[in-house]
Amino acid sequence: MRLNNVAALVTGASSGIGEAVSSHFRREGARLLLTGRRKRLDTAQPDDLYVPGDLNDEAFVEDLAKQAAESLGTVDVVVLNHGLQASSPLTEMAYDDAKNVLESNLLSAFLVMKHFAPLMPQAGGSFVCVSSRLGMVGKSGQVLYSAAKGGLIMLAKGAAIEWAPRNIRVNVVAPGLTATPIIEASIQRRPDPEGYRRERESQIPLQRLATPEEVADAVLFFASSESSYVTGSVLPVDGGYTAF
Ligand SMILES: NC(=O)c1ccc[n+]([C@@H]2O[C@H](COP(=O)([O-])OP(=O)(O)OC[C@H]3O[C@@H](n4cnc5c(N)ncnc54)[C@H](OP(=O)(O)O)[C@@H]3O)[C@@H](O)[C@H]2O)c1
Repeated sequence: MRLNNVAALVTGASSGIGEAVSSHFRREGARLLLTGRRKRLDTAQPDDLYVPGDLNDEAFVEDLAKQAAESLGTVDVVVLNHGLQASSPLTEMAYDDAKNVLESNLLSAFLVMKHFAPLMPQAGGSFVCVSSRLGMVGKSGQVLYSAAKGGLIMLAKGAAIEWAPRNIRVNVVAPGLTATPIIEASIQRRPDPEGYRRERESQIPLQRLATPEEVADAVLFFASSESSYVTGSVLPVDGGYTAF
């Protein structure tokens, strides 16, 4: 088991990629602290601790860190997977919506890093940030999301250098379009869902969406000692979308 007895926080654990990461980590022997915004998490297992709340709120993040210290002691791995997708032409986006996108994808990640780095053991630890292919290339209609996810990559790279002396590694997984419930629902809302799906797939070199499990495989790599000499790196899991 690659995470035997490792204590791990997974954010955004109540859906899609976060659920797949939690399930991989559980299989590999991790002790899990899970968080999301919804009050209940039906997929949580008896040994998991689920603490719901809004990571844009520093008071909640401080409380989460306190609960982590009480229940787990130290925290070896933190997966920053929570996030919010937003589509709008730039000139039509309200300032409050833009702030919410930056808070939900970037500033909240900063808050979790700030309050959880002190909980990592003396031997070190691992942060894994879930960014996006759109953190590396721009896209019309998703400019603020792209800016936030690009910012997350630079947050990770800077922290990787700042915390290297403590052997705290910080890496990034950058998924492409992934078949999570939110993406499937957005496809189904189209007038011709199957036509739209084929059009989106045709823009991806591997000609299909990722599965949440394929993204979770990359997160597991960065969380485990298999990547013990890797920090500040970005791994696209995007079927070749950013390979051009
Ligand atoms: N799916 C894709 O195609 C894709 C592609 C590239 C990158 N990503 C990134 O991968 C990550 C997971 O994506 P997904 O498709 O699995 O998303 P999802 O199904 O929408 O899940 C997002 C998760 O983040 C939580 N969350 C959102 N804002 C939060 C906040 N302010 N405080 C605490 N929790 C918050 C949600 O909690 P509740 O649901 O309980 O509210 C949920 O657990 C996101 O960062 C996303 O940007 C996804």
